[in-house]
Amino acid sequence: MTLRQLKKLTQDKLLKIYNFNESRSIFHLLLDEFLGIDTVNFHINIEKKISSDSLKLFNQKVSLIEKEVPVQYAIGYVKIEGLKILVDKSVLIPRPETIDLCKWIIQEKLNDKQILDIGTGSGLISLFLKKYSKNCTIHAWDNSKNALRIAKKNADQNNLDVNFNNIDILKNQSIKTKFDLIISNPPYINKKEKDSISNLVKKNEPNEAIFVDSEDDLLFYKAIIKFSKSHLNENGIVYFECHKERINHVKNLLIINKFTEIEIKKDSFGIDRMIKAKNYGYA
Ligand SMILES: C[S@@+](CC[C@H](N)C(=O)[O-])C[C@H]1O[C@@H](n2cnc3c(N)ncnc32)[C@H](O)[C@@H]1O
Repeated sequence: MTLRQLKKLTQDKLLKIYNFNESRSIFHLLLDEFLGIDTVNFHINIEKKISSDSLKLFNQKVSLIEKEVPVQYAIGYVKIEGLKILVDKSVLIPRPETIDLCKWIIQEKLNDKQILDIGTGSGLISLFLKKYSKNCTIHAWDNSKNALRIAKKNADQNNLDVNFNNIDILKNQSIKTKFDLIISNPPYINKKEKDSISNLVKKNEPNEAIFVDSEDDLLFYKAIIKFSKSHLNENGIVYFECHKERINHVKNLLIINKFTEIEIKKDSFGIDRMIKAKNYGYA
């Protein structure tokens, strides 16, 4: 089969799930990852024949995607901002808005800071910050042992040092450490909103990373703000990624809890998505 034929055959399969542009990018991603042929070489060698042997792994991945496994899980990792992040069903797939949050955070001077990432998942936020600023100390917590297993692998393979801990932020903590920055992208979708979430996400990604198992959508924000009040150093900062329709509710919680210098920032899609606030330490 030639590369031209392979593209037609693969795209016809992918079009059952993805639109034309997505199918084309997924085809090129798979071709690059599993046959080592980038887009330029594809066009130069479009009539070149590919042996069925070398297509084995490529075809296995296409079959998974046809069965509605997200591309990132089918490939097994995501390459993002110079990091290679392993992903499987126990961790949320990294989202562009979370990278926007990380890029906002690194506008702070992170050197020598004690930083806590609550609900680390794949370790994305922690690893991004540690890669950017080697002299900070990063603590990363999650209540999922499976997520922490992946996050630790990610730290190892990216050669970055992060202190991982299996901690449930909804339970009372007897933690003595104080932090300069506390960051979280917690679960924030109400179970009643399940219909608004795509089947691809619901079927594959860990539901406990996405949905709040409570009537109270702000459960995690309340717990993390309470924890931050007692565990942030004076002038320490809390950062959250939020649901676009509830960011003002999080802002109100921060005001009630006497945080100051509250700022909301849009993500790269132009949506109010992240918030930061300072703890002056006198409340
Ligand atoms: C929205 S995901 C964010 C993952 C990652 N930080 C990211 O931004 O890609 C939320 C994470 O919170 C974790 N989580 C859920 N409940 C928790 C709890 N009670 N205590 C600590 N972590 C929790 C989930 O396992 C999941 O990894």
